[in-house]
Amino acid sequence: MDRNKVIVNSWNEWDPLKHVIVGRADGTCIPAAEPALEAKVPEDSDMKGKFGPRTKDTIDKANQLLNDFSEMLSKRGIKVDRPTPIDFNQNISTPDWKVETMFGCMPPRDVLLTVGNEILEATMSYRCRWFEYLCYRPLLKEYYNLDPNMRHESAPKPRLTDADYREDYLSDKIGIEKRLKWTEDKFFVTTEEEPLFDAADILRFGKDLIVQHGFTTNLKGIDWLRRHFKDHRIHAVNFPGDPYPIHIDATFTPIKEGLIINNPQRKLPKDQRKLFEKNGWEIIDAAQPAHNEPPALCYSSVWLSMNVLVLDPKTVCVEKSEKYQAEQLDKLGMEVIPVDLRDAYAFGGGLHCCTADVYREGEIKDYFPKQ
Ligand code: ALA
Repeated sequence: MDRNKVIVNSWNEWDPLKHVIVGRADGTCIPAAEPALEAKVPEDSDMKGKFGPRTKDTIDKANQLLNDFSEMLSKRGIKVDRPTPIDFNQNISTPDWKVETMFGCMPPRDVLLTVGNEILEATMSYRCRWFEYLCYRPLLKEYYNLDPNMRHESAPKPRLTDADYREDYLSDKIGIEKRLKWTEDKFFVTTEEEPLFDAADILRFGKDLIVQHGFTTNLKGIDWLRRHFKDHRIHAVNFPGDPYPIHIDATFTPIKEGLIINNPQRKLPKDQRKLFEKNGWEIIDAAQPAHNEPPALCYSSVWLSMNVLVLDPKTVCVEKSEKYQAEQLDKLGMEVIPVDLRDAYAFGGGLHCCTADVYREGEIKDYFPKQ
């Protein structure tokens, strides 16, 4: 194989990062109400009942932070690509539904899953995110043209009719207690009508893919991944304690081979820990977030503190204000690079969310030989 022509290669979350996509905040909208989104927007959120473009000054600020982050990565020798935003403030429809706005392209991690030489576009599970992949197509086309071994795949586009969503979640007043019970019972907003997954529900550990079953990924989606990645072992996990179980990367974060930080409010159940324990992996509680509240108009929780980007097994980017998380990783022997990103959180998440791997050095490895 001609190594010079290999553009896409990434098997895990911690090998040395050489090429990455960093999202953009341009034109990001607060999407209009739709079934999946309603379940996710926290009940006391300042976004309830609002939709449409975010303000220019918040977009400019977020873009400034994303540009600074990109520049820092470039200076460290990491190639950075950026998506091409489309006009998110327009009605979109399929023969089955219509919505009034799209979302944005700040979090490429939600849409793109890189496994080895493949980049897979996720089905997504919100209507407003149905066309988001278009923002990444110019890049994927380029990688595909340059790298003769790159596989560009797209999971079956879901229909996302009302049959995909449980009506029980459409109420504004479910309450945290009931939500926690439903999470524990794995009674999520998405039904098993068709395969659904967001790429940010998946973590890559070489031969093993760990997938969160929750609001944005259903069991059929996990089964689809199992059939698609035939040489991998796919493990479904879930995290009781999370009233809004969406995306795994503020809950369970591998730092390097053998070490994972786990959200202490959303612990991996005992039976699911066995795989890690048997193979000598340590799962430790993540440090507390530095904030009591997320920023204004933000979908995510304060646990974006754990949404770190590992640059290599000794180096990690942590949000600048997250002093406890930084301290913990520093004590664990990592070099911590503080990155100012909090004012971009509302656009789709933290340092892991706003990036997607293109190339990390290293080959596929079996980290869990004892299954
Ligand atoms: N679901 C993640 C959180 O906000 C992103 O905690």
